[in-house]
Amino acid sequence: MSERKLITAALPYANGPVHIGHLAGVYIPADVYARFQRRMGRDVAFICGSDEHGIPITIRAKKEGVTPQDIVDKYHHVIKKSFEDLGISFDEYSRTTSPKHYEVSQNFFKTLYNKGKFTEEVSEQYYDEQAGEFLADRYIVGTCPNCGNENAYGDQCEKCGSTLSPSELIDPRSMLSGNVPVLKETKNWYLPLNEYEGFLNDWIIKGHEHDWKSNVYGQVKSWLADGLKPRAMTRDLNWGVPVPLPDADGKVLYVWFDAPIGYISFTQEWAEKNGKNWKDYWQSEDSDLIHFIGKDNIVFHCIIFPSMLKAHGDYILPENVPAFEFLNLENDKISTSRNWAVWAHEYVQDFPEQQDALRYALLSSAPETKDNNFTWKDFQTKNNSELVGILGNFINRVAVLTHKYYGGQVADGKINEEALQEIHKAATEIRESLEKFEFRNALTSLMNLARYGNQYLQIKEPWKTIKTDEQATADSLYTAAQISVALAQMCEPFMPFSSEKLLATFGVPKMNWQNIETAEVYIGANHQIGEAQLLFSKIEDAAIEAQIEKLEKTKKENSLALNTSDEETGFLPQPQKEEISFDDFTKIDLRTATILEAEKVKKADKLLKFTVDTGVDVRTVVSGVAESFTPEECIGKQVMILMNLAPRKIRGIESQGMLLLTTKPDGKLSFVTPDDKVCNGVEIG
Ligand code: MF3
Ligand code: ZN
Repeated sequence: MSERKLITAALPYANGPVHIGHLAGVYIPADVYARFQRRMGRDVAFICGSDEHGIPITIRAKKEGVTPQDIVDKYHHVIKKSFEDLGISFDEYSRTTSPKHYEVSQNFFKTLYNKGKFTEEVSEQYYDEQAGEFLADRYIVGTCPNCGNENAYGDQCEKCGSTLSPSELIDPRSMLSGNVPVLKETKNWYLPLNEYEGFLNDWIIKGHEHDWKSNVYGQVKSWLADGLKPRAMTRDLNWGVPVPLPDADGKVLYVWFDAPIGYISFTQEWAEKNGKNWKDYWQSEDSDLIHFIGKDNIVFHCIIFPSMLKAHGDYILPENVPAFEFLNLENDKISTSRNWAVWAHEYVQDFPEQQDALRYALLSSAPETKDNNFTWKDFQTKNNSELVGILGNFINRVAVLTHKYYGGQVADGKINEEALQEIHKAATEIRESLEKFEFRNALTSLMNLARYGNQYLQIKEPWKTIKTDEQATADSLYTAAQISVALAQMCEPFMPFSSEKLLATFGVPKMNWQNIETAEVYIGANHQIGEAQLLFSKIEDAAIEAQIEKLEKTKKENSLALNTSDEETGFLPQPQKEEISFDDFTKIDLRTATILEAEKVKKADKLLKFTVDTGVDVRTVVSGVAESFTPEECIGKQVMILMNLAPRKIRGIESQGMLLLTTKPDGKLSFVTPDDKVCNGVEIG
């Protein structure tokens, strides 16, 4: 273990604001860790910035009808401000569109290129001729070969969850134009990850079985067991860092190549501004690199980026990669597109003085080993019963009694040895937990000391002994003052705003963590302290109800707006079909009709045979709806029929026309019916 800590937090995509899921699963734990390491007296560089390339950015830009640059400019500032407002103490928060980052990532690429670390491969990629662009996997939709979902993406089917490649899609379409894309040859540079399997095995599987979190270790192990494949480090896209080679027009670095190099470029930017040498952090064995990330980033930080660093040769490898699971909100998956989130910038607006309450609540339900849940009620309880009721209450009592009995000067008494042990124990436990990335345990140790303080006062009753035994009061209030100041010191990594207020009230400077673990005195006798100020304030029911109402409104809006594209349902409206003339339209004979009879077609799970009254005649129509309706529920329904469709034989039955159907969000079919009952045979148009 080294005295220099290079701490990184995953670069958030600048395609939207950050929410509590990001905060709980990356940024707040990383900040606690960085603050703690600074208190350990270590040389810390805490580095982050916005990830401004990649498909999530260009998709957002297309959706909003603006340029990718507009998107990243907007969200970079929103995100940066939220972090500042919540006390995330980055030493550097930069962005991957900075000139320095272009230079550093291009140089990194060139080094690997010159060392012959890439293989060149010509492959066929889908190309949209109308848009004149190669299509990223996310820009291709088609039918999933596994489940038949017609709106599967080129990299994944969100309905059945299977991972796909664009070439597996049936009937691929371009999301840019709706056209059928063509395959076109293109050359890209690949990192042959398969050649790094041995290195990764030795370094992680053999070397980090015991000190890496099991979720991280397990994922790496299963990736390696499946075998690694060469991965393209360049893409045919027009948004990104240009590939620094002469024959690479229209190609950019793969976003997962450039983004992690951002950690390096931003460290360089920081070092230049602060008279540091960035190489001390990145290229020196006495530096520990720690990546804080969410679980969806494990492969990139444990396999791809380390292989890049290894290929380069001058860099250290991460010492640890603490990855977090996901946080749910009110028992439902947090979703940007469904607006199901508590947004950091909105929280700060709604609770301007209560940054620490959010930090506390999110840390105490940090998704360390499994997904966890945030509820507003729980948040309120944590604030009101724990922060106000235990921590705030204890320190407030000590300050008030010190003013009442001693004019605000710390009592001149003797420390209670057991209490001192409790302080030392808490400080040691917190250190040990934080060194193992166990943030919830660390927080529990902190709160247990506050609980102990309350019990201590309850037992000693200085407000009673003041009348009978003044020395006893002095001893207990002196001791209580020590516990209070120790708490003020120790809560800094978790609740920096409150810590700062408290230390100012007590008029003491910050202590080094090692001293907190061993000190005999935290605040001297007769030391003048300031007036007790409100540390935490109660959150009223009305404030919580307002938040819950806001979420309920979102839920309602979502259920009304099910026709917009949605990452959860996997629904994506198809682009408009080719234009037709009015004459074409009038050829279509659509009528109202009523289903008279319905029965299953033998040996065909999906088919129902209908007898329908079209007003003009009674005819037979076969339709693939048996998975959506029973025959009984269809009888008597008024429907719409396409009359003049050429008859077709289906399973030996002649089907004379087609009933109009649409698909519900759950994938089940639904008949298109007139709003009010009408006669059969009425023309539609
Ligand atoms: N932007 C990515 C995400 O939100 C994380 C990038 S981390 C980096 O999932 F290492 F690539 F920078
Ligand atoms: Zn599927």
